[in-house]
Amino acid sequence: MSEIAKIELGGTTYEFPVIEGTENEKAIDISNLRAATGYVTLDTGYKNTGATTSAITFLDGEEGILKYRGYPIEELAEKATFIEVAYLLIYGNLPTVTELETFRSNITKHTLVHEDMKQFFEAYPAKAHPMGVLSSMVCSLSTFYPESLDPNRSPEAKDLTILRLLAKLPTLAAWAYKNSTRHPFMYPKNEFDYCKNFLYMMFAMPTEEFKVDPVVVDALNKLFILHADHEQNCSTSTVRIVGSSQANLYASISAGISALWGPLHGGANQEVIEMLEKIHADGGDVDKWVLKAKDKEDSFRLMGFGHRVYKNFDPRAKIIKKACDDILTKLGVNDPLLAIAKKLEQVALEDEYFKARNLYPNVDFYSGIIYKALGIPTEMFTVMFAIGRLPGWIAQWKEMTENKEPIGRPRQIYTGVVLRQYVPIEKR
Ligand code: CMC
Repeated sequence: MSEIAKIELGGTTYEFPVIEGTENEKAIDISNLRAATGYVTLDTGYKNTGATTSAITFLDGEEGILKYRGYPIEELAEKATFIEVAYLLIYGNLPTVTELETFRSNITKHTLVHEDMKQFFEAYPAKAHPMGVLSSMVCSLSTFYPESLDPNRSPEAKDLTILRLLAKLPTLAAWAYKNSTRHPFMYPKNEFDYCKNFLYMMFAMPTEEFKVDPVVVDALNKLFILHADHEQNCSTSTVRIVGSSQANLYASISAGISALWGPLHGGANQEVIEMLEKIHADGGDVDKWVLKAKDKEDSFRLMGFGHRVYKNFDPRAKIIKKACDDILTKLGVNDPLLAIAKKLEQVALEDEYFKARNLYPNVDFYSGIIYKALGIPTEMFTVMFAIGRLPGWIAQWKEMTENKEPIGRPRQIYTGVVLRQYVPIEKR
């Protein structure tokens, strides 16, 4: 017999169904709560609220498990390409050889952005943060494809928007960087694969032959896979909630990019490197900074530590830490920040404060050190995260529209003044 949850209010007992996912996660379905009882639930920050059912990504925070469409992240990061993983997330299964070839070649057909968009870049100051530029540019894409404004068009039309986004995001991201250096924009080279093409547009110069170490391409591929989806996190929930109003996909993804930018979310990777640099410049006294992080009077937090869901370890961080050692060794990079990061991790993991709160390094703790070794400038770190997360955002948006989910619209408990009378300005 299926489980029932009972809530007693004012002497009456109400029953609510319990639903169970394929990984045995349980939820009390309270969708009928207000209609039945007049009450709503209160859960600031949605710490205990399941906003949807989803068949895309499974995450077990206690056990440190992450799977995309049933495939463990460890296996995908080791064996797959980012484009394969993007296909898997968006369409539900790993592609066959033909499906992958078609997907890849369709993406390369759309890597150019409209020439008029170049003028937008030129109007930004050189110091503009690339996440601000990227979010605006992605929303601007909707103005070039007015037919995309109706997200309920045919599946073929949806797929075209999806391909355009996957194809153009690296171009827009690389151009945001080129603009900040006032260097000429490099047009995409479609003979290169997704990651290599991005590195080409970032680092190539028209006057020089472009060479890139395959270690760098592989590292980027791995990092993008690790970022590709993470179920109902802040930016993904943003994409779903914006999309639920039937705003177009470009607008929804642009909103996701803005949500990702915050230092508590994807922006943490930039903050981690800046923190490590500060500790290094300050003499490298790790204990002093751990003390600061524990001090409730001090706003400093150990960036790259802690996670809303992972309370044991972040499986992405485990893979990234190992990759960090391997990549730096292969590239012959000796970064003093890596030693500080390892010391910081060691001290924090042995500290009662961090142990009691289950605070462990998250995906952002070591990823910045890898991005730095790959030559990616610090302000571009969160942009890298956004490129990696794009297939996940798209998959979640697609699932939401296909399931015909209603508009996202939480309730609140009002705590303001009950009633006041308007007083004319001269009498206030
Ligand atoms: N340094 C010091 N104390 C911390 C930290 C930290 N990084 N993270 C959490 N705490 C403490 C916090 O002060 C609180 O202590 P107390 O119980 O005494 O009040 C306790 O741990 C619980 O923290 P919380 O802020 O209530 O937890 P949350 O689930 O709301 O926040 C978090 C999760 C990731 C926002 C938070 O851990 C944090 O700010 N970490 C640093 C930023 C960061 O690395 N963000 C990237 C997250 S992973 C990438 C992604 O997917 O976005």
